Amino acid sequence: MAVTAQPRLDAERIRADFPIFELEIHGKPLAYLDSANSSQKPRPVLDALRTFYETSYANVHRAVYELGLRSDAAYDGARQKARAFINAETTAEVVFTRNATEGLNLIAYGWGLDNLGPGDLVLVTELEHHSNFVPWQYIAHRTGAAFAAIPIDENGELRLEALDELESRGRVKLVACGYVSNSLGTVNPLERLAAWAHERDAVLVVDAAQAAPHRPVDVQALECDFLAFTGHKMCGPTGIGVVWGRRELLERMSPFELGGEMIRKVTVERTTWNELPHKFEAGTPPIAQAVGLGAAIDYLTGVGLEAIERHEAELTSYAWGRLSEVPGLTLYGPSPERRAGIVSFNLEGIHPHDVAQVVDSEGVAVRAGHHCNQPLMTSLGLSATTRASFYLYSLPEEIDRLVDGLHRARKLFS
Ligand SMILES: Cc1ncc(COP(=O)(O)O)c(C=O)c1O
Repeated sequence: MAVTAQPRLDAERIRADFPIFELEIHGKPLAYLDSANSSQKPRPVLDALRTFYETSYANVHRAVYELGLRSDAAYDGARQKARAFINAETTAEVVFTRNATEGLNLIAYGWGLDNLGPGDLVLVTELEHHSNFVPWQYIAHRTGAAFAAIPIDENGELRLEALDELESRGRVKLVACGYVSNSLGTVNPLERLAAWAHERDAVLVVDAAQAAPHRPVDVQALECDFLAFTGHKMCGPTGIGVVWGRRELLERMSPFELGGEMIRKVTVERTTWNELPHKFEAGTPPIAQAVGLGAAIDYLTGVGLEAIERHEAELTSYAWGRLSEVPGLTLYGPSPERRAGIVSFNLEGIHPHDVAQVVDSEGVAVRAGHHCNQPLMTSLGLSATTRASFYLYSLPEEIDRLVDGLHRARKLFS
């Protein structure tokens, strides 16, 4: 192992916060290189969930008794943490959802159904996760709007020069783009896309599922109109996500789901909607999950998002170098300086699932498949890749063990 730059965070010490790393898998220490899929959970998050259930649990916004007030305070406190985490102006703009997918559907249904129609154009990118692709494709087809994907170049970066041609297909109303590609790690030029979209009075939706856990995200600096992320990829529990939207857009939008909590007044004749953000939170919300997300935000900000980003950048350069030494290995996407901590590759003549299984026998967890990126795989001429992804607890030794496993896979399949 030869990471030369001085690590800015102490990943060994951070690992001690994560009980899962005490496990052995197939008799070997766990090397978890699948954090882009879902992250592991530190003790402060696990403790926060337990303490909340043991000391403060009741339903929110319904009770006048002490326990209900404690639960309200914890839930509302989590929203305040989420607001600060993305530098939103107000908690009215911060909606809790089940995950990023539900958040992106909320925007697609809530904004798209009322604002799109024939003659309009919805643009996504070839890099999108299905969660930021399929809802837009579906809503475009339902409303009669045209739908197109911004293509990528041979480095897996967006070809923004294609925008001129794409624009001829309709009135650009919405651009939906991931911040970081979950397959290639490409970091997209959101500022340029925001400027381009706004020059055309279009709305920019950012899928920050692979960014919010790993780098500072500031919705005001990004100048986007909507942004979604998911708790389980950022040390939080499953079942919680966040949608941020500009207040004036959220105010004008129709609700996504209907029922309790999201109403102001219900009569047989008509129903009026609750104020933001409750208009978009129908039914009992994921209360404990939000509290867990709040604890995860405290944990990540305690370590420092800049430090996490730097640590992952060092690991990515190291992985790029080590993987390049493996004969018959093809790496996809941009060079390490132009990507986040995600590396996709294939070993000649060996299916990615076989690769993942061989390295798993050494205790190394990586993902194999299309990564919910079928349009991207088509564009790359592939059906699947093997993907390693890094987080604040990842170590260079884990990359070494992956590389050893790849050599073993080559021997087994030669
Ligand atoms: C870029 C991106 N967007 C959206 C999602 C969906 O996240 P969730 O499954 O938590 O809704 C993922 C998950 O892999 C992702 O990588």
